[in-house]
Amino acid sequence: MQFEKLTCNIGAELKDVQIRDAIDSDDLFSEIHRHLLENKVIFFRDQELTPAQHVAFASRFGALEDHPVAGSDPDNPGLVNIFKDETATPLYYENNWHADVTWRENPQKMAVLRCVQCPEVGGDTMWSNMTKAYEDLPQHIKQQIDGLYARHSIEASFGAAMPIEKRHALKAQFPDAEHPVVVTHPETGEEVLYVSAYTTHFTNFHTPDNVRYGNDFTPGHHSLLLDLVRRAAIPEYQVRWRWTPNSVAIWDNTLTQHYAVADYPPSVRQMQRAGVIGQRPVR
Ligand code: SIN
Repeated sequence: MQFEKLTCNIGAELKDVQIRDAIDSDDLFSEIHRHLLENKVIFFRDQELTPAQHVAFASRFGALEDHPVAGSDPDNPGLVNIFKDETATPLYYENNWHADVTWRENPQKMAVLRCVQCPEVGGDTMWSNMTKAYEDLPQHIKQQIDGLYARHSIEASFGAAMPIEKRHALKAQFPDAEHPVVVTHPETGEEVLYVSAYTTHFTNFHTPDNVRYGNDFTPGHHSLLLDLVRRAAIPEYQVRWRWTPNSVAIWDNTLTQHYAVADYPPSVRQMQRAGVIGQRPVR
């Protein structure tokens, strides 16, 4: 297997390998897993992978789940269809910095995304190294956010453009989740900045010291959250992948955030994603 780093901080392409061979090979599976943890997102081109093999490969990392808004492949549960057609429907949801499904108590730990069809140019995906985003924070900000928790909401993201009744029903089914603002990766021990476009507010910013009149002052509350969410957009932390049909990206969904660039309407883009259920994030 050939290996090429794509940037100094994140991402590598693995060549001369078919990931379907890892379905039955513990050695190959371990090597891919090691590269994933070391590089946070890894890429493969020209994969001969049926939807069933896609599910079988991803399932080696753990149980898969469907998505409440994006539909799944009816023949292959756990394989989520991300499809945009020439009329730009359904809406674009993926063009913001996020880690997948952090609005769940147990967000996904990683995902395997295959390009089925894409425009000749456009529709790239970007990933950002959220360990580096945390590491480079000034010490006083690290101290300020240590111990903070924040809400992550499907209502404020996938539900945002829904009519009110539908939005409330979605929220009733998937109540907001609350996670630490900084989490520790369960395998590598790295500290990760864990707020994104799905994060609505800090939940324990109020203390007797900083609330004087009811909830009047949480000084800097909103701008602090915004500054933290914007860290993913720093180019030095990023890699950008140009898709071709049958290329695959595998990312660690705790160590990274991603952004699918929606510059391609009216072209068609079709992806299939297998997301692996993780554990509850902890500091
Ligand atoms: C996602 O947000 O998980 C999908 C990314 C993509 O479609 O490139």
